[in-house]
Amino acid sequence: MNVSHSLQSTIPAVATPCDQSGPLFADTGIKLAVFGSNVSAAGALSCAAERHEISWQRNLSIVQKAERAGFDAAVPLSRWRGFEGSTNPWGNSFDAYTWAAAMAAVTTHMMIFVTAQCMTASPVAAAKQLTTIDHISSGRVGLNVVAGWFEKELRMFGKLQLDHDERYDYAEEWLEVIYALWTRHDQFDFTGRWQDITSAYQQPKNIQQPRPPVMNAAFSPRGHRLAAKYADILFVSAFDPDGATAKVKELRALAAELGREIKVWMPVGVICADSDAAAGQLAARYEREADAQAVANNIEWAMGGTQMPEDHRRALAKSMAITGGSYPLIGSAGSVADQIEQLSAAGVDGLCLTWMNYEDGLDQFSDNVLPLLRQRGVRRDTV
Ligand SMILES: Cc1cc2nc3c(=O)[nH]c(=O)nc-3n(C[C@H](O)[C@H](O)[C@H](O)COP(=O)(O)O)c2cc1C
Repeated sequence: MNVSHSLQSTIPAVATPCDQSGPLFADTGIKLAVFGSNVSAAGALSCAAERHEISWQRNLSIVQKAERAGFDAAVPLSRWRGFEGSTNPWGNSFDAYTWAAAMAAVTTHMMIFVTAQCMTASPVAAAKQLTTIDHISSGRVGLNVVAGWFEKELRMFGKLQLDHDERYDYAEEWLEVIYALWTRHDQFDFTGRWQDITSAYQQPKNIQQPRPPVMNAAFSPRGHRLAAKYADILFVSAFDPDGATAKVKELRALAAELGREIKVWMPVGVICADSDAAAGQLAARYEREADAQAVANNIEWAMGGTQMPEDHRRALAKSMAITGGSYPLIGSAGSVADQIEQLSAAGVDGLCLTWMNYEDGLDQFSDNVLPLLRQRGVRRDTV
């Protein structure tokens, strides 16, 4: 117990499978997660009057409602500031770790994720906080690790932004320490490029063995390389189901090269109404009511907008205004169910869902879309 070993010599080249006994791996069809409810206007950078605002009671109501409806997970965002403009969308946010700890205590079977921006926390502290939430939830915590892209946020931590690919080198090193703390029973030293840790040790271990599930929502080749090596759930972005099919295949092949099997998820923004025409009108209103300055800031700060071709910039601006950049599922309940069925057929294993107004959107999804998914076998609640 008192002997320190160097970690580097024992890091496995790829992660071994996580605990797969929870709802994310059950044979229930496409998985559903309520995403980002801890952040204001998470579903769209629009000034629309019904945009999401946060309060603890509202978050409780949303997550518990999602669990009752049969959702598999709740995934918060890690956000420290917004995109300014006139309404500062994403500017009000609850901390993802403490949010998850509290949600763990008031839910019973859905997975509760922590979204961790790895540059904002020591991996030693993060590993222990996640394990504590695993115990609070009796084995239902998940980690969504993000490499970070928001320089203004990092400046709040006295950190400088790394180059895009270097951020994933950082995330890789950070995850290696987390995995070692979760699985090793001796003490170890770790001297990496950024972490310098002596006699690292963690007790207790997680309830989920050998470790909880980890997701990583990168879209870039470097990000996908890290995720294929260390994450259990990877994300794709696509413009249509054919694009999703191709990207899902690519990701599975990348993981297979490393001898791993992974799940592939997508972030989706739902705009559902009584008819396709009414849903289209809603989307058009959200776009008209965009917080144009916040959208411009987001595109500039997150994606280097000024160097982008104008038509690409315009498409992105629309997407940020109506669905916060997520894949749009717009239409009647029947059309939304059709689109989810197509994504499921494309090989997508799960969806992180957002709405303009989470309470109304979740009710409508649970009452009108979920029954159709069940009828069609896209979603099966009993194993
Ligand atoms: C489902 C999902 C959740 C994400 N959560 C966060 C987050 O909470 N904080 C954050 O800074 N970035 C978040 N991101 C952004 C990603 O971490 C990543 O920066 C983005 O997808 C671009 O990928 P790339 O770094 O590979 O280019 C999220 C992305 C997705 C799709």
